[in-house]
Amino acid sequence: MLEDAWLVATDGLIAEVGTGRPPPADVREDGGGRIALPGFVDSHTHVLFGRSRADEFERRLAGESYAEIAASGGGIRASVADLRARGEDELVTLASGRLRAMLASGTTTAEVKSGYGLSTSAELSSLRAVRRLRERTPVDVVPTFLGAHAIPPEFDGDRGGYVRSIVQETLPAVASEGLAEFCDAFCDVGAFSLEETREVLVAGSAAGLGLKVHAEEFERTGAAEMAAGLGAVSADHLLRIDDAGVAALAASGTVATLLPATAFFLRLPFAPARRLLDAGATLALATDYNPGSSPCASMALVWSLACCGMGLSVDEALRALTLGGARALGRGAELGTLLPGFRADVSLFDVDHYREVPYFFGENRCAAVLRGGRTVWRAAG
Ligand code: NIG
Ligand code: FE
Repeated sequence: MLEDAWLVATDGLIAEVGTGRPPPADVREDGGGRIALPGFVDSHTHVLFGRSRADEFERRLAGESYAEIAASGGGIRASVADLRARGEDELVTLASGRLRAMLASGTTTAEVKSGYGLSTSAELSSLRAVRRLRERTPVDVVPTFLGAHAIPPEFDGDRGGYVRSIVQETLPAVASEGLAEFCDAFCDVGAFSLEETREVLVAGSAAGLGLKVHAEEFERTGAAEMAAGLGAVSADHLLRIDDAGVAALAASGTVATLLPATAFFLRLPFAPARRLLDAGATLALATDYNPGSSPCASMALVWSLACCGMGLSVDEALRALTLGGARALGRGAELGTLLPGFRADVSLFDVDHYREVPYFFGENRCAAVLRGGRTVWRAAG
């Protein structure tokens, strides 16, 4: 931690960091003695959706499980039906409001997945909406194609047909329009099998996309080992990961992305963060912002949950919320730390020490946010 610190940005990048009297500059932003942190890099979100599913929240509280609700027509399919009934403009408006809430709590980069369209046309229109989010918000948006999120109703009884349609039709269209940087798939019991997931990921990679996997969330499937074997940039969730999965991630460059707000909200046991870290895996922390399992915009709250729920230290969690997230997006040399050469994405907090950000849990202490050296958001008052 630097006291009385300044940083100089040139062309959006950090040129110099120091303490004491700052050098002259064309434009000055006064941090007002606040605590400056690298902007949070939220590397796993599904903010492009329509209505909330707070009805399911109440059903779960009354005893139904996530899987039971999904099997009865709720879950991802409910969001699919809802999204398909809306226009692209409306989705852009809804999602940009969510990104604003994320920005206001210190997030400067957010990955956004498709996955509530599940037809070629609805997935393409979702990803076009995600592209438009870049012009609507100062948050840097990274697009991911998640066609393999659920089997849509028109392919009931024909899982193979849906996987083929992703591989032969949707993915090539996504790639040729340059609409996504990553290809993700939800590998789980009740979602896609290991083999189906592999088929989608191999095709995604052949189409030039980086790979991400929803792995070991509800049941252990071996998806973490497969992610490592395919050179995926991240394996995400990992609530049920076993020793073999931990060892595979630790031995690979695949980042273990943990989403403690999801475990909290679904009332499931947290992922074994300590075991992953001690084995030598790189950790990222993200919100998983989505209407079903984690309607959470705040990386500061994720920080608190990572400490209190998963036993990470304040510093271990901070690293995972910033540089870890950057690595999970293939941007570990550009984002996530306040050193020369990195982008000048800085969040300022109204606290005496950065440990007070997770300590005042559920409170938003973010006072201002800079993207590329420019103030893009400031708290009222
Ligand atoms: O990351 N696990 C799958 N997908 C989301 C949940 C999506 C939903 O319920 O709408 C997740 O938790
Ligand atoms: Fe997710």
